[in-house]
Amino acid sequence: MWKFLPSPGIGKQNYLRIFTSRYRKLARMLWGRPQLKSAASISNIKRIKEKQDVAVIGIISNVSTLKDGRKIIEVEDPTGSITVLVQKVMRGIDELVPDEVIGVTGRPGRDIIFAESIIFPDVPSSNDWPENAKSKAVFIADIHAGSKKFNEDTWTDFTKWVNQNNDVKYIFIGGDLVDGVGIYKGQDQEIHFETVEEEFQYLRKLLNMINSNKRLIVIPGNHDPTNDSEPRQPIPREFAKVIYQMPNVQLLSDPSWVNVEGVCILMYHGTSFDGFIASVDSIRATAYDSPTQAQKLLLRKRHLSPIFGRNRILPGDEDHLVIQQIPHVFFTGHVHTVDMSNYRGVRLVSAGSFQERTDFQKKLGHNPTPGKFVEMDLSTGSSRMLDFSQDELPDPTTLTPT
Ligand SMILES: [Fe+2]
Repeated sequence: MWKFLPSPGIGKQNYLRIFTSRYRKLARMLWGRPQLKSAASISNIKRIKEKQDVAVIGIISNVSTLKDGRKIIEVEDPTGSITVLVQKVMRGIDELVPDEVIGVTGRPGRDIIFAESIIFPDVPSSNDWPENAKSKAVFIADIHAGSKKFNEDTWTDFTKWVNQNNDVKYIFIGGDLVDGVGIYKGQDQEIHFETVEEEFQYLRKLLNMINSNKRLIVIPGNHDPTNDSEPRQPIPREFAKVIYQMPNVQLLSDPSWVNVEGVCILMYHGTSFDGFIASVDSIRATAYDSPTQAQKLLLRKRHLSPIFGRNRILPGDEDHLVIQQIPHVFFTGHVHTVDMSNYRGVRLVSAGSFQERTDFQKKLGHNPTPGKFVEMDLSTGSSRMLDFSQDELPDPTTLTPT
């Protein structure tokens, strides 16, 4: 039985169903791997007497590091739990986090497995790219309309540029449309408006500066007024009526899988990044400057928010944060830092912000890249960075392959 701690006030049964759903979905992916074809249940492994190699698929309920760098992990499946000892040199040891689903092969001892390999669900390498896409898309995020740090000049430059580029048909917006009201202590000193409705009226003025023949595809972030847990529902009409009135804007949930011209784009704000980056040894020091490192690991784990308790999860029957469908593009915001990469054929895109560096970011030592975004040619998947923090607008002609 899973040993997690539920959030206060929310029935344990709701999370039990989510964990069961997570295990089933990810175990199904892992069973397809050759090393795990013979994976046995933990209760059966505990009964094995002979010295034969074993394979198991389970959720990590605990990770601890020994003085010599080896790791002890507790792995659970619906039949029980077992301790796994992982050698310091083993591939993947620096990426292990609680509540993710992994495969382990190794030698059994008494109530322990000495790991010989760790297998993540991962994505297969692929060079497939849809053939019929023709347009270009721009990826922006973290507008933070209403914040005193919102940079209107950057927005004006962006809208001028995008209106001049007819082949840009889609603008993906990765959350934090407005700064929100009452999101953190003292925020009233850092925003222009008293209500979130006024912030959306201001946002409407901003979005109206973009030609109405561009499609705006929008998800919420942690500053927007929707549920505080993931998955986040689309911003409710009652707050953003003026945005719902715009025929070229589609307000979706966070995360969302969107298909345009055959290209599948996974949009996720990235709220889990804070807890995730802090918990993963291999990226802790670098991923705020290069958020695609975190995206890559989430793809390997096939989960958008693996660590339970670092982030609020919406209770329910199903774990909707499992990355079941492999996207062509995985797009995130939240960190306010532009980045591009390619992991096994999946284009990773992280957008900068329209909000200048905040005091909070300064305190944490984060160096975001306001005014920097990504343009992608959907016919090839090649992309380039757009820099609106400079006086000159970006050259509209060249795209760098990724
Ligand atoms: Fe943000």
